[in-house]
Amino acid sequence: MEFRGRAEGKEETMKPIETLVRDNVKNLKPCVHGAEVLGAAEESGFKPEAILDFSSSVNPLGPSKKSLEAAKKAFSVIAAYPDSNSNELRQVIASHFGKITKRNIIVGNGSTELMYLFAEVFMKKGDKALIPAPTFGEYESAVCKTGEIPRFAKLNKDFQVETATFEREMAGAKLVFLCNPNNPTSKLIPQETLTDIIEKALSQDTLVFLDEDFLEFVEEEKDLTMIGNIKKYPNLFILRSFTKIFGLTGLRVGYGIANPEIIDVLSCAKIPWNVNCLAQAAAVAALKDEEHLQVTHALIKKEKAWLQGELSKFGSFKFSEPDANFFFINIQKSGLTAAELKNKLLKQGILIRDCTSFKGIDEFYVRIAVKTHVENERLIDALRRTVKVV
Ligand SMILES: Cc1ncc(COP(=O)(O)O)c(C=O)c1O
Repeated sequence: MEFRGRAEGKEETMKPIETLVRDNVKNLKPCVHGAEVLGAAEESGFKPEAILDFSSSVNPLGPSKKSLEAAKKAFSVIAAYPDSNSNELRQVIASHFGKITKRNIIVGNGSTELMYLFAEVFMKKGDKALIPAPTFGEYESAVCKTGEIPRFAKLNKDFQVETATFEREMAGAKLVFLCNPNNPTSKLIPQETLTDIIEKALSQDTLVFLDEDFLEFVEEEKDLTMIGNIKKYPNLFILRSFTKIFGLTGLRVGYGIANPEIIDVLSCAKIPWNVNCLAQAAAVAALKDEEHLQVTHALIKKEKAWLQGELSKFGSFKFSEPDANFFFINIQKSGLTAAELKNKLLKQGILIRDCTSFKGIDEFYVRIAVKTHVENERLIDALRRTVKVV
């Protein structure tokens, strides 16, 4: 279509914009996510604040008060540019984990920024990237934006990475993405599998992008994280976020941990001032507020057990014990598709994630986050009104 505009009384024409777009971004499609509360409000007639959002698996208590106070205090420095390299935050992250320094850390505008940056920096024309299916959709989008089409390795029937299949598919790959624990399946990758894959990848110069955004919800986080192994594995990049357990979701802060060789190149390629001053200040305070983390862990543990008991009473729900703070449930026996269950619950002011948009699964899976007790009770009541407890 030809565009006509008017400049100083003259009619100007120009080529259709689509003809000016680089080929590799022409066919990009936005990734589908949970937490679409505004759309759900419009659809259901509920006010956004009246909708209970079980589709987004973040801290049900929200951020720590201390982090909010720090963000408020940082309003006084809004007139200045933020520290482009998030130095204080990187220092605090390094001290939090120990054994790493701020040279091992890059901070992003949400951890999603770092997925795109990583793919942009390392994917050359013709390079191969491997992604398990199902998993978080932005890895695929990040690869597609570089102009390459990723390959997918389907998880097995228990939603686990099949080491032999994955390693076979990994041959010749420049980059593999792994998510531990995985979204949407809520399953940890066994340590042996993870180590096998990272070592195999190292032996063939394949980079491993390991997303540990949900690992902070897992009790054995300290034993399971690969952060302590970055020296041993120069091909490893570990992703973390302030979106999930820290609840700073709307501020957009995440970070990556790797050897300085990787961090330096990413830091040079990132956009300047990528993380605003409120986000940096809030994240520093959030990481120091151990009490809020402890309270959150205790709540999640108790509520996850309660929800598991209640959800198990629905004979038509099939799920295994979640490793993360969300349940991944096959509802096929209920006679409803995920979209139908989502719609029926939305009419009662409850939003769950219909997982149909995830690659590699059918239309019968939903994802439900663990929230506070009162909220979880509302979910179960709504489910009882909607699905038979057999
Ligand atoms: C596994 C996983 N990684 C990363 C993200 C994005 O996190 P952030 O808000 O830090 O960009 C999400 C968001 O849902 C996710 O599920």
